[in-house]
Amino acid sequence: MSNTYDEFNGKVVLITGSSAGIGAAAALEFAKCGAHVVITGRKAQTVKETAEECRKVSPKGLKALEVVVDISKLDDCKRLVDTTIKTFGKLDVLVNNAAYGDITKIADPQLIDKYEMVMNTNLRSVIYLTQLSVEHLEKTKGNIINVSAIAGIRPSAMGFLYGMSKSALDMFSKCMALELGPKGIRVNIVK
Ligand SMILES: NC(=O)c1ccc[n+]([C@@H]2O[C@H](COP(=O)([O-])OP(=O)(O)OC[C@H]3O[C@@H](n4cnc5c(N)ncnc54)[C@H](OP(=O)(O)O)[C@@H]3O)[C@@H](O)[C@H]2O)c1
Repeated sequence: MSNTYDEFNGKVVLITGSSAGIGAAAALEFAKCGAHVVITGRKAQTVKETAEECRKVSPKGLKALEVVVDISKLDDCKRLVDTTIKTFGKLDVLVNNAAYGDITKIADPQLIDKYEMVMNTNLRSVIYLTQLSVEHLEKTKGNIINVSAIAGIRPSAMGFLYGMSKSALDMFSKCMALELGPKGIRVNIVK
């Protein structure tokens, strides 16, 4: 029986934060469609376990690529894209999914450290991964999917860092849709 999403067969799909939660669920769905998936996260063990799950559901038993990275670090973002291209020779879909939230108050002495952690994980990584991926996605007429949150449009008392990162992610995504659309790269937000 043919799969509804046959168009992903053979596509290379890189999902940040795909070792758990929504990212892992998405990776499994892409793997079921016959895609080559890149599994990422900071913990090697969960990356390995999710990659194995993807191999099991892949119609041709495709082995997922495992890349252990911390996307709040620029060097790791570069290694992630470089390893993907070195392994598969192309990129079709970039899903920016990994994110971090922190509850804080404006008087928190650790506020600026927390700000940097949230923004580097949720926003700077997306900007840099997009920059690194554009040349590859242009060749495949690929897609970028940015996983946002209602927190980006609905204020909460102590969730302002996470909410701000998602608001900015929404605007970045909309601007990128305008810039990259003419290159044949679609940019969408899921929330
Ligand atoms: N769950 C919800 O209710 C909800 C609601 C709205 C929006 N969202 C959005 O959906 C996305 C996924 O959320 P989730 O709930 O599925 O998250 P989750 O279960 O906490 O999983 C997060 C994933 O990201 C990885 N990760 C976290 N920080 C990372 C870093 N610095 N570098 C690399 N990998 C990192 C984690 O692996 P390691 O820990 O091993 O690094 C894990 O694979 C996020 O963008 C979130 O904002 C979720």
